[in-house]
Amino acid sequence: MPDATSEQTPEPTHESLPELADVAPEAWSGVHRGVLREGEWIRLVDSKGRKHNFELVAGKRFFSNRGHLEHDDLIGREEGFTIRSSMGGEYLVFRPLLSEFVVSMPRGAAVIYPKDSAQIVAMADIFPGAVVVEAGVGSGALTCSLLRAVGPYGTVHSFERREEFADVARQNVTQFFGGAHPSWSLQLGDLAEALPASGIRADRVILDMLAPWECVDAAADALTAGGILLAYVATTTQLSRFVETVRVHGGFTEPQPWESLVRDWHVEGLAVRPGHKMIGHTAFLVTARRMAPGEKPPRKTRRPAPGAYGVDYTGPRPADLPEASVEEHLDA
Ligand SMILES: C[S@@+](CC[C@H](N)C(=O)[O-])C[C@H]1O[C@@H](n2cnc3c(N)ncnc32)[C@H](O)[C@@H]1O
Repeated sequence: MPDATSEQTPEPTHESLPELADVAPEAWSGVHRGVLREGEWIRLVDSKGRKHNFELVAGKRFFSNRGHLEHDDLIGREEGFTIRSSMGGEYLVFRPLLSEFVVSMPRGAAVIYPKDSAQIVAMADIFPGAVVVEAGVGSGALTCSLLRAVGPYGTVHSFERREEFADVARQNVTQFFGGAHPSWSLQLGDLAEALPASGIRADRVILDMLAPWECVDAAADALTAGGILLAYVATTTQLSRFVETVRVHGGFTEPQPWESLVRDWHVEGLAVRPGHKMIGHTAFLVTARRMAPGEKPPRKTRRPAPGAYGVDYTGPRPADLPEASVEEHLDA
């Protein structure tokens, strides 16, 4: 049994937490209640489902192919109403939800869609008070979901190596939360170098980048025992390389890869059937848990599939492959 005191990893690192009483409740959630106010973003949806997002400015007009609307006719009303434009177009008026905001906000890099952000929050077990490291920040879509999930006692440390993307993310996150988020830090740099240099100890590390395997060592060193590493990768080759790199590292549990597919349904009287369109492949997700210092996951007892690590396989090779099976595959 290891000595509990000497083997313990340091506690996750929180930035100095703000006094809760000094921060408006909307700053943590991005959700505003009550009547629509100048400076807020709203979303109009027309009868064909076309969406228009804009900031309310007193005295300004919104123009569309169905005439115009005065912003002043929207300011001061409770969201959830229908309004007619000067040429008779009907518009539904609500504040945008986070899931609506992220698919319509300006983009630097490709964003993680709500179906995957939801999976990440659930399966990486993002909890109130968690210290989460994320890279790259891209356009800041996932950042918004992470910030909501960690709440006032948590911290999200985002890293991004391209300044122009960091600028887009900062703008988007600030717009959604209505100001600089009190629990967020955004740092420029490559995670593989910037995370070790930061000294951050994290409960969770989320990687959304082209080559997440290059950041496995940095993530492993930053993660607390029992912490979760999650990667979001678009292709099978990335998935394979990431999973094998995590196995070769040896300080994680067996990686668990999966994907999610979401299908709408059409429900109208007796016509109840799946929709014609669905959100199929977006990306693969993989999680693995950090073992305690010096601890190894159990050896795999099942032999790899024939040919899995044969002559055509050139990626990282797990050290604990049963000897016979390696030779067998190399000979195959
Ligand atoms: C697909 S985007 C991330 C999108 C983001 N998750 C979102 O939901 O908006 C990938 C980003 O990772 C950044 N990146 C790639 N490798 C990186 C690394 N090693 N360290 C930091 N950022 C990295 C890229 O510059 C890019 O902005």
